[in-house]
Amino acid sequence: MKKEEILKKLREAQDYVSGQGLCEYYGVSRTAVWKAIRQLEKDGYEIEALNNRGYRLRNKEAADIFSKVEIESHMDTAWIGKKLVFHKETGSTNLDAKALAEAGERSGTLVVADMQTQGRGRRGRGWDSPAGKDIYMTLLLRPQCRPEKASALTLVMALAVLEAIQEMIPQSCYIKWPNDIVINNKKVCGILTEMSAELDSIHYVVIGVGINVNQTQLAGEIRDKATSLYLESGEQLDRSKLVARVMHYFEKNYALFEQTWDLSKLVEKYNRFLINCDREVRVLDPQGEYSGIARGIDEKGELLVERKSDGRLVRVYAGEVSVRGVYGYAV
Ligand code: BTN
Repeated sequence: MKKEEILKKLREAQDYVSGQGLCEYYGVSRTAVWKAIRQLEKDGYEIEALNNRGYRLRNKEAADIFSKVEIESHMDTAWIGKKLVFHKETGSTNLDAKALAEAGERSGTLVVADMQTQGRGRRGRGWDSPAGKDIYMTLLLRPQCRPEKASALTLVMALAVLEAIQEMIPQSCYIKWPNDIVINNKKVCGILTEMSAELDSIHYVVIGVGINVNQTQLAGEIRDKATSLYLESGEQLDRSKLVARVMHYFEKNYALFEQTWDLSKLVEKYNRFLINCDREVRVLDPQGEYSGIARGIDEKGELLVERKSDGRLVRVYAGEVSVRGVYGYAV
């Protein structure tokens, strides 16, 4: 019996949970239960113990305890995130996950941090990563597919993040192709996928996810383009639960991806949330910019754009170009 299992039971209970009941359920001694309770108290949980009634979690609704044990107590996956590494502070969870991969760590390992000192974004940019507010996490995978298939995994993750967020707040959430999550036309999540591979096989892929969760104020220069879940919903969210829900949806979506090693089984769902679908976009292609109507993604994750100048359907590959709305960042 692990302390996170007891935490789960305490959280689920409407009232006191009897010590005897816990002993019987897990087949352990009273001392073992008591020890687990003491450990949870050390982790910051307030647990009330009453002689003939048992244990009760006092700060059950405490909005946001971000820790390994809390995340694990919300986790319901079969293999994704079963091995969880949590850092109060780290350089970058992508770098941590890569180091673990190089050391032979298993597929499905998840690295989560409360703060990053060298958070990295796409196109060589940084990722602002203050403590106590947001989610920084990286999932390590070893997919048995050809390397060119791996870029679609970023879209699989984007969908999972969207589904998890959508479960926790009522505001509508969209995907800005290929992998930004936006609410009210502002970005709340970015994903950075990196891979180590040979010509025809993958050593590992790391998918790094940064979600702006409880920030009440964003830095001046990004305020026009970025937002947080708190700023949009007015609610402080439980980051541990959100991490676990993202992993829940990722595991489901990955199972579908794995059947074909492409997005065939996810295209329809993805396109439903695509903010630019059937809307005019500007394609920032280094070979020459053009406008067109976005028609959704194909099974490879490429964006199909009906070019305005000649009506041709162009497949836009995420690595080379980015896409903007006609009026601004998203639409
Ligand atoms: C983007 O530029 O949109 C991608 C941002 C990705 C940020 C996340 S935070 C967790 C992981 N660790 C990093 O250093 N970067 C990614």
